[in-house]
Amino acid sequence: MKRAVIFDLDGVITDTARYHYLAWKRLAESQGVHFDEAFNEHLKGIDRMGSLDMILASSARTYTPEEKLALATAKNEHYKELIATMTPADLLPGAVQALDDCRAAGLKIGLASVSRNAFTVLDRLGITGKFDYVVDAGTIAKGKPDPEIFLAAAQALGVPPAACFGVEDAVAGVASIKGAGMYAVGVGDPDTLRQADVVIPSLAQFRLSDYVAA
Ligand code: BG6
Ligand code: MG
Ligand code: MG
Repeated sequence: MKRAVIFDLDGVITDTARYHYLAWKRLAESQGVHFDEAFNEHLKGIDRMGSLDMILASSARTYTPEEKLALATAKNEHYKELIATMTPADLLPGAVQALDDCRAAGLKIGLASVSRNAFTVLDRLGITGKFDYVVDAGTIAKGKPDPEIFLAAAQALGVPPAACFGVEDAVAGVASIKGAGMYAVGVGDPDTLRQADVVIPSLAQFRLSDYVAA
């Protein structure tokens, strides 16, 4: 039986994946790098500097660490403008119900997002209090697909990985969950999230009883 659930944030609980896409697209195009939805799919779940490195790999020129930091900061300033207007109305369908179902079933609830804006987003959505533990992305050495962030959440919740399941929309995130030895619920397209144990289109199709016994 599962005793804890660990959620990703961006693209699972709220559609910030769209805002990350818009902010990266503007940044990439400012550097003459073509950017589309297909490329963005590879960036989902990847931390800020890792994403920037993947974008700049397609650039004709090289960048100093100072230039990269300036570009990452510019992207983040744009992203922060986009999330500043978020409200609880930006919770995706089924998100609150899924969290409340997990709470009612007595599961510990964690959040594993590599976003350094995660605390701000949770606050804007009004759901900070629904989590027993939120990983501080600043304390994680290796981002997704490394399992570190899901293992850190499980440890803080006091539940062994095998008794946890993770919920993710990103290929890198599902890989992180599986690397941690957990059952993975993918949210999105089954053809994309091939490593997940089960894939649902959105949290509106979240069926807790299917996952706790898995
Ligand atoms: C992840 C997103 O949750 O956070 C990525 O899926 C994003 O798209 C990453 O790049 C880092 O976010 P931030 O807010 O720290 O730049
Ligand atoms: Mg995500
Ligand atoms: Mg995330």
